Formats: sequence, structure tokens, C-alpha cells
Amino acid sequence: MKFNEGMLREGALKDKNILVTGGGTGLGRSMGEYFLKLGANVVISSRKLDVLEATAKDMADKNGGKVIPLACDVREIEQVEAMWEKAKSELGEIHVVLNNAAGNFISPTERLSANAFNTVLDIVLKGTSQVTLTAGKDWIARKRPGTFLNIVTTYAWTGSGYVVPSAAAKAGVLAMTRSLAVEWAKYGIRSNAIAPGPFPTEGAWSRLLPGDLVKKFDPAKKVPVGRVGEHQELANLAAYLVSDFSAYVNGEVITIDGGEWLKGAGEFNNLDQIPSELWDMMEVSRGKKH
Ligand code: COA
Repeated sequence: MKFNEGMLREGALKDKNILVTGGGTGLGRSMGEYFLKLGANVVISSRKLDVLEATAKDMADKNGGKVIPLACDVREIEQVEAMWEKAKSELGEIHVVLNNAAGNFISPTERLSANAFNTVLDIVLKGTSQVTLTAGKDWIARKRPGTFLNIVTTYAWTGSGYVVPSAAAKAGVLAMTRSLAVEWAKYGIRSNAIAPGPFPTEGAWSRLLPGDLVKKFDPAKKVPVGRVGEHQELANLAAYLVSDFSAYVNGEVITIDGGEWLKGAGEFNNLDQIPSELWDMMEVSRGKKH
């Protein structure tokens, strides 16, 4: 058994219809594809219908099952509501919403225009709240249970320079996850979140760290387990959290980052840069014999 193999049993998501926002590329696609392999039907949405259609065909050809591509800019409530209705009319019901769509700019904050700041807030916080409200209201009105899984980030609670609108928005999404986990549990609606560390994707990484920057700031170097994440590892966790196996998990945020954020937090963690010989010398100098 390897860490990058599918974890759940075949058919674990059978009879589940799952909406994945931002599902056309990157991590959203990887998670959606694994849901499909486990027997779910999937709706993938983003702004780019051509990308979605190509992805949907590829996913369905490889794995079987139904993949419905629906164009939607999560910032526009009319588009969100139309997507929700269309998704239901295609599949009969949607049981799970994976709020994965996001946008981010790496920039000194003082260089961001008001519109740039708002753009990230709108995609991440407003987009997630609009999809959540649309799905939640509908589930509650029709007395249907449902499951939300929201993708956040570890800097939702630590904060982070150079991605301030994203940090502020993801902190809001995390607060919403925990709040609704309590408020909507009585309707049979669970809410959980995943905070992934570095999981390389084509799009986000080349956009966020263009050219040689990605080498200079190699994220693997910051991760105690010494590597970045593989998509299947994230997909395994996501599949568990949207499956009925996690029925008692509610209001949780699960970090999957190889220990990255804690490494930055612990006062003495960078002492891993001290070589063994130096530790030996320090022991000798305080009188320990070798
Ligand atoms: N750094 C700083 N500001 C930026 C920027 C960057 N890299 N890219 C765009 N902006 C600014 C624009 O200048 C504009 O502000 P202005 O009107 O004051 O000039 C504002 O942000 C909106 O830009 P625009 O290109 O009109 O936004 P959009 O709505 O078309 O697209 C995104 C915004 C985020 C969806 C788009 O940049 C995108 O597709 N990004 C890739 C998705 C992504 O970030 N994924 C990572 C997930 S973590």
C-alpha cells in the first residue's frame, strides 16, 4: 500500500452527486476525478466552459460515470443560482458541495489596487458564501441532508504576508465552515474544511511563482517531511470527508501539509540547520563524553 494510491473502497461514493467549483483544472479536477472513480457523479464548474467540457470528456472517458460541465462565475449570484438549478436538473439531486474555486495574487499588499483586493475577496469569500447559501437554503427548504467541504489554507489562521486578500478571505471561509457546522447540523448538513499545504498544480504555481521563483522558493524545503504533496493524498482526504464514513466529523479543518505551518511556528524549529558535528561539539563543551 502506498501513500499515493486511492484509499477508499470501490463504490464508496456510489449514489452521490457532487458539485466541485473550480473543478476544471488543478486540485479541483484531481478531487473530482477520484470521486468519480469511487462511483460518484460530478458537476464541475468554473468560468471557462471550453476547459470544463474537455476535462469532463476526459474524466468520463477514463473513469465512467457522469461528469457535467457548467460555466459559472461564483462571484455572480444569478450564475450560481442558475448553475445549482441546472446541476439538479441534470442529476436529480446534489448531495455534496466542494467549495474549491479560488483566486490569488502574490504581491506586496500596498501594490494591490482596491479592485485587485476585492477581486480575490469576491472569488474566495463571496463566491464560497454564495454557493453555500444557494445550496444550503435549497437543501433546508426541501428537507434534504447535505455536505459541504471547503478548501482553505493554513494561513487562514496564521495569516500571511503577500497574499493578504486571500488570507482574509480564507479566514472568513473557515469561520463560515465552523459556524454553519453548528447552525445547520440540525438540518442534516455537515460542514468541514481542508487546509492543504503545497500541492503543485500547473496553473496556480506557474502563475503565483513565475519563472525561477519556484526554484528559489522551493516549497518542499519548508516541509518537515521533505516533499510536497501528491494530488491523490488530498483526493483521499476529500473523498473521506464527503463520504458517509465521516458522518461524525463536523466543523473540522484538517491540515494536510507535511507539518509545514507548524515548522514555521515553533520557536526553535530552524535548528535543523545545525549539523551533527556542531551538536557533538556543544555536548563536548558541556562535558558529555563520546
Ligand atoms: N497582481 C496584482 N493585481 C492583479 C494581478 C496580479 N497578478 N492580476 C490582476 N490584478 C488586478 C488587475 O489589475 C485588476 O485591478 P485594476 O482594475 O485596479 O487594474 C484586478 O486585479 C482584477 O483583475 P482582472 O484580470 O480584471 O480580474 P478577473 O476577474 O478577470 O480575474 C482572477 C481574476 C483571479 C480570476 C484571474 O487572475 C485568474 O484567473 N487567476 C488565476 C486563478 C488563480 O489565481 N488561481 C489560484 C488559486 S489559489
